[in-house]
Amino acid sequence: MTAPLASRLRGFGTTVFAEMSALAVATGSINLGQGFPDYPGPPEVLDVARAAIGTGADQYPPGPGIPELRAAVAEHRQRFTGQAYDPDTEVLVTAGATEALAAAMLALLEPGDEVVLFEPIYDSYSASVAMAGGVVRPVPLHPPAASSPTSPAAPWTFDEAELRAAVTPRTRLLLVNSPHNPTGTVLTDDELAVLAELATTRDLTVITDEVYEHLVFDGARHRSLATLPGMRERTLVVSSAGKTFNVTGWKIGWVCGPAPLVTAVRTAKQFLTYVNGGPLQPAVAAGLGLPDAWFAGIARDLQRRRDVLVSGLRDAGLPVIAPRATYFATVDVRGVQPDGDGLAFCRALPERVGVVAVPTVVFYTPEHAALGRHLVRFAFCKSDAVLGEAVERLRRLG
Ligand SMILES: Cc1ncc(COP(=O)(O)O)c(C=O)c1O
Repeated sequence: MTAPLASRLRGFGTTVFAEMSALAVATGSINLGQGFPDYPGPPEVLDVARAAIGTGADQYPPGPGIPELRAAVAEHRQRFTGQAYDPDTEVLVTAGATEALAAAMLALLEPGDEVVLFEPIYDSYSASVAMAGGVVRPVPLHPPAASSPTSPAAPWTFDEAELRAAVTPRTRLLLVNSPHNPTGTVLTDDELAVLAELATTRDLTVITDEVYEHLVFDGARHRSLATLPGMRERTLVVSSAGKTFNVTGWKIGWVCGPAPLVTAVRTAKQFLTYVNGGPLQPAVAAGLGLPDAWFAGIARDLQRRRDVLVSGLRDAGLPVIAPRATYFATVDVRGVQPDGDGLAFCRALPERVGVVAVPTVVFYTPEHAALGRHLVRFAFCKSDAVLGEAVERLRRLG
């Protein structure tokens, strides 16, 4: 029998995440590979979900999402970006950001259409583009040239000429993730301006993945690409409740955008899941209505966890590219892994010290894999006890 997997999905086999999580279990290691918190979300959110189970909310919600959640998404967007979206025609609730992205690709791409995106990339992007028959055109984000345990954090950045060269007459979409997984980078105003100018002059539709919108540190701020001049009318903004409310398993996401684009996404989405998470939708609506101070508080709390992990990694002799946002810190392993192979480092780390991390190379296409070979990602969205123990164990590397 020939291999059953369709050609468009070849190359998307079992991920290194699964391998590393299995290693964590087999060796009793602390798993800093996967990006999910090991502490609960706010009671203001969890209690609403508990109360909704056993009511009519257990049945199919309306296809676009319950009106209460769509209104809350629009109000939250207005509050944090000043942008108005009509909850009836410009907001769509999805099964996480992942479905929003997949439905957008299926809705907008003709076979052979190209999607320009930055890598390292979140792993669902390439698969979604492939399932829609599209082609990815990756542009590398370059890590800071030199990093040492004492050097100040330089941001990752893209080369404008490389970006412009990636845009061809076949380019249909520009897919941007900021704050960015896995690097923890937040695009600057100058970088956003380059993207907006390119999108408007080349008439590109833009998708911005903003799932880490509230997890930004050190007084930096996240600015949505959709807020730049000329961008609202061509941009689909994707976000999700998972990271903001510590409920990554709930898979409640949403899309905001101009009505024609949102209608297109809804057309694909209705035949993927149709709807999901009935009792969770009112709970996320409650969460989105929490006061400004609550959102500032989660960023402060995560910043503290970042600092614990970053100083532990530095003590272990691992130079850190300090993240400005998200759940993740990236280290350069060349000082402790003579061949500079991040994948080999991650495979050996559970035996060496009982900690699991993820090699950054898995977030690149083969074309640019060399750029991430020596880098490894650690998650810091973990309880104080777990982070403290992880840091103790990592010190044994030093
Ligand atoms: C950049 C990025 N986008 C999307 C997602 C997935 O979001 P959701 O769980 O809401 O589908 C993740 C999860 O790790 C992510 O890091």
